[in-house]
Amino acid sequence: MPGSSRLPISLREVSARKSSAQVRLANLGLNLDVIRNVVFILFLIRWTRKLFYQLKGRGIGGSVFDLYAYIRHALYGVFLRLPGVRTKVQSQVSESILKLERKLVPSGPGVERTITLPKDGWSTEQVRKALADLEGMEHTRWEDGRVSGAVYHGGEELLKLQEEAFGKFLVSNPIHPDVFPGVRKMEAEVVAMVLSLFNAPEGAVGVTTSGGTESILMACLSARNKAYSERGVTEPEMILPETAHTAFRKAGEYFKIKIHLVACKAPAYKVDLRAVSRLVNPNTVLLVGSAPNFPHGIIDDIPGLSRIAHKKKLPLHVDCCLGSFLIPLLTKAGFESEPFDFKLKGVTSISCDTHKYGFAPKGNSTVLYRSDDYRKYQYFISPDWPGGVYASPSIAGSRPGALIAGCWASLVRQGENGYISACHKIVGTMKKIEGAIREMPELCTDLKVIGRPLVSVVAFHSPTLDIYDIADAMGEKGWHLNALQSPPAIHVAVTIPIVAAADKLIVDLVEVTEEARERERKRIAEGRGHKGPVKGDTAALYGVAGSLPNKSVVVDLAKGFLDTLYKA
Ligand SMILES: *Cc1c(COP(=O)(O)O)cnc(C)c1O
Ligand SMILES: *[C@@H]1O[C@H](CO)[C@@H](O)[C@H](O)[C@H]1NC(C)=O
Ligand SMILES: *[C@@H]1O[C@H](CO)[C@@H](O)[C@H](O)[C@H]1NC(C)=O
Repeated sequence: MPGSSRLPISLREVSARKSSAQVRLANLGLNLDVIRNVVFILFLIRWTRKLFYQLKGRGIGGSVFDLYAYIRHALYGVFLRLPGVRTKVQSQVSESILKLERKLVPSGPGVERTITLPKDGWSTEQVRKALADLEGMEHTRWEDGRVSGAVYHGGEELLKLQEEAFGKFLVSNPIHPDVFPGVRKMEAEVVAMVLSLFNAPEGAVGVTTSGGTESILMACLSARNKAYSERGVTEPEMILPETAHTAFRKAGEYFKIKIHLVACKAPAYKVDLRAVSRLVNPNTVLLVGSAPNFPHGIIDDIPGLSRIAHKKKLPLHVDCCLGSFLIPLLTKAGFESEPFDFKLKGVTSISCDTHKYGFAPKGNSTVLYRSDDYRKYQYFISPDWPGGVYASPSIAGSRPGALIAGCWASLVRQGENGYISACHKIVGTMKKIEGAIREMPELCTDLKVIGRPLVSVVAFHSPTLDIYDIADAMGEKGWHLNALQSPPAIHVAVTIPIVAAADKLIVDLVEVTEEARERERKRIAEGRGHKGPVKGDTAALYGVAGSLPNKSVVVDLAKGFLDTLYKA
């Protein structure tokens, strides 16, 4: 049969084809196996590595504690979401926000609001009158030195000069250097002057920014981009003292940099260097130290951090936003100081706020780099935009040239001696307040200074009284001091307006502390469990809400606060 003679062949063919297909499939199977194994091994390596660095960084005890804290937060979060609890908490939160609103947003029949454009513009006189009224709204008296930090101006005369500088450069914008050459020149000179204050080496560079936060954001961005481009780091991490300014946490959120917080333990309240060393791993892109930090005014051990950074070839940012023009001049003003600047070879970037103790108008700061190898990574350059080749040094596009003029005028008007004399007054006043708390019998038994502050901030806590009650009582006397948490404390950041008010501050602090002591004595005598009948705002926010393991209530309150700021 013709067909039958062909069948065996085709069968053979079929089986041959089949077997080659089988071989191919088998090969494929083999490849799949290999792939699966490779993927699995990579997975194992990745997680072993993660586990290794977690254990290296936090130790077994620390890791168990991290896990415990995580579970506690999660469980508390579940508790907060239980039907009965949730409505109760929500109504409490809304009530607090409403209270805040009543305090911040003027209301009632007498209050005029402008929420649409006036059809015809107001007369100049009308605007002037309205501005004067706005300026005169009832407020905590910063003019009389009642506010800690916040207002860093350098005196009436300097304010006038800044106004003039503003007037001359109101329309200018450094984005057009050919149109506003004077602004470009002033900006470059501001950076050069600040560099010279911080012992910058040959080749050091910098940029100006809109404030300390932007300076810090830029330093973190530059470190992240550098590590990505030079070492291929795709999961960046940075190591912060827990007391470092919160702008670093903001940078972590904005730029997806994982943050490791390192404890700053009593009695020195400086960052724990051994913990920093342990946390360094191949993903680390930046180490951070403060000179000094915001909460306690303490200068971290920058020489120690510098040694670690140098040894591990990592960038180290020193936050001198607050120290600004005080810390570089401490020695010249005759005060004790500690090394913190580019003289230490591990320090690669420094942020310095000209708008704090540089007395420049608000909206001005600088970030300095040891060399252009760091600065170039913060630039934004877009070569192919239809709008033209675009390059900008920092976050902003258009920028106010008037601020640059105001800043430049302040620096050259004050001069080194002007800043040294301001340093005398400010640091001297800090030491006066510190001395009162440490030595006056009315204060020293109940209030304790945190660490050894050397610059403008003095923080204190109380082992015996509720420190937040003291903050609230000071608030009632017209003082705005800063409340701190973990540990509960308050601080005074001395500014020029506070210098003249310091004696009154000490007198009021003595009075308030005596009253608190009296209340505490009564409470103990009556055997009451709770500290006081009615809590003030600070005590409620930090003492009650702040003590909860899951801070989502505080987050809700803070969000409500931000919303309130935009209620017309
Ligand atoms: C004020 C401050 C900053 C930056 O704050 P801005 O309000 O953005 O200028 C950063 N670090 C410290 C220690 C500060 O005190
Ligand atoms: C805290 O509680 C909130 C709301 O109940 C929840 O959304 C959040 O995930 C909790 N946080 C943690 C870390 O578990
Ligand atoms: C001042 O602040 C503005 C932005 O607010 C910034 O563009 C400018 O560069 C700053 N200038 C100086 C001298 O710090």
